[in-house]
Amino acid sequence: MLPIVQLVHRPGILDLGWGHPDPAALPVAALRRATDATLTRYGADALAYGAERGPGPLIEWICARLAHIDARHPDPTEVLITSGASQALDLLCTLIAAPGDTVLVESPTYHLAVRILRDHPLHLVAVPSDADGIDVEALTIILRQLAKRGRQARMLYFVPTYHNPTGVCLSLERRRALAMIAAEHGFVLVEDDVYRELSYDAPAPPSVWSIAPPGAVVRIASFSKSLAPGLRLGYLTADASLTRRLIGSGLLDSGGGVNPFTALTVAEVCATGDFEATVTQLRAMYRERRDALAQSLRMYLPPGCRFTVPGGGFFQWVELPEGVDAATLLPRAEQTGVSYLPGSRFYLDAARSNTLRLSFSLYPPHQLTEAARRLGEALAAIR
Ligand SMILES: Cc1ncc(COP(=O)(O)O)c(C=O)c1O
Repeated sequence: MLPIVQLVHRPGILDLGWGHPDPAALPVAALRRATDATLTRYGADALAYGAERGPGPLIEWICARLAHIDARHPDPTEVLITSGASQALDLLCTLIAAPGDTVLVESPTYHLAVRILRDHPLHLVAVPSDADGIDVEALTIILRQLAKRGRQARMLYFVPTYHNPTGVCLSLERRRALAMIAAEHGFVLVEDDVYRELSYDAPAPPSVWSIAPPGAVVRIASFSKSLAPGLRLGYLTADASLTRRLIGSGLLDSGGGVNPFTALTVAEVCATGDFEATVTQLRAMYRERRDALAQSLRMYLPPGCRFTVPGGGFFQWVELPEGVDAATLLPRAEQTGVSYLPGSRFYLDAARSNTLRLSFSLYPPHQLTEAARRLGEALAAIR
């Protein structure tokens, strides 16, 4: 039979390379109830071509939700439903950027966003980051160098909250600085904010979108992490003039918005309280997993390895001792029964080869402990 899902299990390997939600935590019963309720409530309208922006009930819920989990209540005209954050990014590349435009990309970054950016004929330039997120001073220097060559940045893609792959949150000071720089230099910040709902200690910091001057930021978000990735549902928040432009695109006009039936169904999940109940459970579950992995890494990794525990999201970034190449270590790690993604996968340019990304989303605590033990064993074997 041809496959149904993307995830491939390899027998004997605890694969911490996949940044997928745990299938056992996907809200099957809530979606079944919501699907039935949607068809009863809207009848044939639920199955018609949808409004280009997305269905009103979901947009109104998103506006109220953002007032609760972020620092700004958008107007409905500032919201557009998309087929996940991935499609939002692709749409922005198609409609904001022109072929050959310079697009800045935080480095390291979500490797599959780079795949999307590279599907477009854009000129990608890496901007380095450190333990506080994207390096704003380095960005200023890069902008100056670009200007000398007669180039101007069109967009900057970054993940400031519970970063994939590093787990880092951009400091508030840098959030403010970045918003001002973007407004001053006239490029659009594309803020990928898909992990906002998955905060484990304190609430997530305000998005850059919520504190920036109008028009400086497009925030892209998703139901993939808070409900289920198979819904292929997300949204963006941006200046109303930009969402109007996106709505006028051929894609949304011809298709009648994206996934209107799914969007109405998710609106039902949100209205009944099932969304809130789901994210509350997910936070507790992933917090426990994060803690189990961090504790086990402390126990099993040899001296010279470093990591900071993320406040949310799915990812634990690990720095191995200088000179240990995570890609070279990988076959040995897989022989001991553990896998991960080498850090080099997340860099646009000069990669730090002694880094790796572990995802704690897929396995319960006891298996994460065993994964850390196996990683420690593989490291001990090559040293
Ligand atoms: C930072 C980041 N952005 C976007 C996505 C994909 O989001 P979606 O499923 O909404 O397309 C992921 C998934 O891992 C991610 O980590």
